[in-house]
This record gives sequence, C-alpha cells and structure tokens, in this order.
Amino acid sequence: MSVLVTGGAGYIGSHTVVELLNSGKDVVIIDNFSNSKPEVLDKIKEITGKDFKFYEIDYLDREALEKVFEENEIEAVLNFAGFKAVGESVAKPIEYYVNNVSGALVLLDTMKKYAVKTFVFSSSATVYGDPETIPITEECKTGGTTNPYGTSKLFIEQILKDIYTSDPTWNICILRYFNPVGAHQSGLIGEEPQGIPNNLMPYIVRVAKGTLKELSVFGNDYNTPDGTGVRDYIHVVDLAIGHIKALEKLEKEKKGLFIYNLGTGNGYSVLDMVKSFEKATGKKVEYKIAPRRPGDIASCYADPKKAREELGWEANLGIDEMCRDSWNYIKDK
Ligand code: WQD
Repeated sequence: MSVLVTGGAGYIGSHTVVELLNSGKDVVIIDNFSNSKPEVLDKIKEITGKDFKFYEIDYLDREALEKVFEENEIEAVLNFAGFKAVGESVAKPIEYYVNNVSGALVLLDTMKKYAVKTFVFSSSATVYGDPETIPITEECKTGGTTNPYGTSKLFIEQILKDIYTSDPTWNICILRYFNPVGAHQSGLIGEEPQGIPNNLMPYIVRVAKGTLKELSVFGNDYNTPDGTGVRDYIHVVDLAIGHIKALEKLEKEKKGLFIYNLGTGNGYSVLDMVKSFEKATGKKVEYKIAPRRPGDIASCYADPKKAREELGWEANLGIDEMCRDSWNYIKDK
C-alpha cells in the first residue's frame, strides 16, 4: 500500500515526502514540475536513503492519473499540486481555478472510481479572510477571501464537505496552514520562488544575500505592538510532520471529516522577523517603511489547541530555526 503525493517535488510536498519515507511509508509522487525541479527528487533520496515511485504527469490528465491508480495500490492521497501565488492568482483566475479546483475534482473523482477515500488536503489560513477573533480557532467563520488563490482553497473545502455529506465513508483531513517558512535542516531542499518573491521570508533572505537591495515593510501603522503586520510563521518540517499525524488520525478513525489549523500559536511582526533573522544568521537586513499592501490584514495567528489535542501534534521548531534554515538553504546558491 502506498501514499500518493501530488506535487511531491514542490516546497511543502517534498518536505512531507521526506517525513512519509522516514515514517516507513511507501510513496508514489506525481508532479509536472510546473513550479519545481526534477533534482528535488534526488535530494529526497539523498536525505532519506529511500526510494519511491515517480510519474511526471499533470493531475488534470485523468487518463494518466488512472494509470497511477491502476499500477499502484493507493491507500491515501495527499494533495500539494495547487498553484499558490496570491498576486498571480488575481491576474490569472481561470488558470488558478482550473488547476486548483478542477485538478482537485479530477483527483477526487479518480479516487472515487478506485474506492480510495482517504484524503489530506492542503488548505490555508487564508480561508478565514479577515478573522473575527484572534487567535483563530477552527470554528471561526470562513469566507471573505480576497483573491482567487484563497477562494480556490475555500471552494475545495466546500467540495470536500459536500463529498463527505454524500458518502460518510470518506476519510478527509483539511489542514489550514499558517505561514510556512524554513527549509530542511540538510539544506538540500527548500523554497525557490520564481522571480521576485512576494512572501516575507524569501524576500528577507535575498536582501541578506545581496540579490535584492532592501526589504519594503508594508505598513507600520497597523494595530499591532510595533505597527507592522503580525503572522504565525511555521517551520516547513513541523508542517510536514503535521501531515504524518493527520494520516495517523485518519488511519485510526477510518471515516470522518476533520479540520485542523497548523500554526505555532505565536505571532511575529515583520520587524520581529527582521531582527530574529539578523540574530540567527549574523546578516544585516536593510529595510524601509513602505505603504500598506492592499488586501493585507493586521494580525493572523492560530490557536493550535485542536491539533495538539486531537493529532498530538505541535510545532517544535522556533523562529531561530526558521531563520537559520531559510538562510542555510539559499546562502550558497
Ligand atoms: C507576511 C507579512 C506583509 C513581504 C500569504 C498568503 C497565504 C499563504 C502565505 C500560501 C505581511 C509583510 C511581506 C514584503 C512585507 N500562502 N511583508 N514586505 O500575506 O501573510 O500570506 O502567504 O501559499 O495564503 O496570503 O504572507 O509572507 O506575503 O506576508 O512587509 O516584501 O510580511 O505585509 O504582514 P501573508 P507574506
């Protein structure tokens, strides 16, 4: 029996494959390398000393996907094949809805055909929109997403709820990620955004490296302790381990629909991140205060209690490790 990982060469997918292999699972990866590189697969083997099956296919290609289900005994599916750039999604809504929503539907329909009903879905704290209360619990209202990326996550969550209502023998776990950062401790895999990064940590590391001149801090007049935006940054390895715990939960429960926040519960401001990065790496990060970025909210961090109590999962790596590993991955590139 194998776990099928879509987008397994990508940032979060690759780290999760490492943890799956380390936990003794057989893994089948599919990826079309639309936002990842084939070398990642070798790095995963180097880190784990283990092998896996790989298919270079697009998960929208139903025929190719069916072949994967024909040729392997799939017990569960983890879906990391989504597009994830917020700004790009505003410019390319059709591409985002086709890839994220139609892709998930092709995958789920194929799973149904082969009677595979165990599914872990990569959702996002974005589904909470501008949260009513902080820290954010899983019971907080969802909706009010401000871009097609976030809306695609919200749609897929609804589709999963509808599937479960229609057939309660499905076994589904929705994981709402906060702000993933960092890289594997080996420095072999990590995040490589194409072009100028939109997210804070990839931007900081490039300023430290000298590839970019200075960080623009988007607003210092928010209602937060230092006026800059507060987020719940989580180390990608902790996030990956959260998926292993989610799979264990589904194996135990056999059926159900479960939703968990994957965050640390700690909120750090933009300036906290700059200072922590400088302290952890000894590199200077030049910055200037710039206007607010449209669509940003002041504060967003998780209440991680439900995942702790029901999955036995909590984040172990702190801000120092997040900064150190983000830097370690990029510094010699
Ligand atoms: C964090 C903070 C910015 C860049 C987005 C998506 C979310 C998830 C993660 C997943 C904010 C500030 C940033 C910069 C800055 N996506 N900032 N200067 O917006 O919380 O979440 O990424 O795939 O769905 O919405 O993350 O890293 O962009 O910003 O001051 O150059 O850093 O204003 O306060 P965000 P981020």
